[in-house]
Amino acid sequence: MPTAAPAIPPAFFGERVTWVHHWTDRQFSFRCTRDTAFRFRAGEFAMIGLMVNGKPLVRAYSMASPTWDEELEFLSIKVQEGPLTSRLQHVAVGDIVLIGRKPTGTLVTDNLLPGRTLWLLATGTGLAPFLSLAREPDVYDRYEKVVVVHTVREARELAHRALFETELPAHEFLGEIVAGKLVYYPSLTREPFHHQGRVTTLIESGRLFADLGLPGLDPAHDRVMLCGSEAMNRDMKAILEARGFQEGSNHAPGTYVLEKAFVTK
Ligand code: A2P
Repeated sequence: MPTAAPAIPPAFFGERVTWVHHWTDRQFSFRCTRDTAFRFRAGEFAMIGLMVNGKPLVRAYSMASPTWDEELEFLSIKVQEGPLTSRLQHVAVGDIVLIGRKPTGTLVTDNLLPGRTLWLLATGTGLAPFLSLAREPDVYDRYEKVVVVHTVREARELAHRALFETELPAHEFLGEIVAGKLVYYPSLTREPFHHQGRVTTLIESGRLFADLGLPGLDPAHDRVMLCGSEAMNRDMKAILEARGFQEGSNHAPGTYVLEKAFVTK
């Protein structure tokens, strides 16, 4: 007789996986159904995971889908010895995943003071919250330009490159909203490419601004969101603070905000 599926603990929704895509052996995306009671602000994260031995095994994951999407999407690394991702990387369409009922986070536009250009700087799976923010019409009401900088090791890790390069500009509703405002700047560190180098180096050298034809970072009009590894966040934080940027939070808006690309195991 088949064993009954474990009951979903009350802190979670149990949602069904609808799509899985493996970008590389280090990165994958999946989508799942979304309870109508699950609401979040673009840029937030929730506790996501699986029932393992009758208990929830969860980690913080940023929602990579826009707030208006009927489904939810997540972008994850895969670590063979990672307690959660060693299992989560094997999810298949029809499987049940846990979605924590209480999304939260600091990468939200309310935590930033008004400004002219919004810089969304990501390394690796740190792109996830920006995949949501870049599809939020409200973001384009608040800023004249929205620049997504995504740095990864090799081209195959540029998850959702086509979304930025072709799908969004051609999108039936968002196309008009993002036109002339959304700028995508992918860069690679371990393969030849038209943009090369870490975002920190690209900023310090001024190369990023020269390539985009935009002035260098200035807290008077630029606002920055950071989402990457611990090292990237630390190095970028130092660069921003040396230029006079101040970190914003849910208590007081500032000129930049940051969050770790959480899941490392
Ligand atoms: P690099 O190849 O020079 O290490 P990972 O896949 O290891 O998470 O890295 C994602 C991207 O983040 C890589 O392109 C990596 O560059 C870059 N990176 C790593 N550390 C930093 C840092 N301290 N500042 C900026 N970028 C970084």
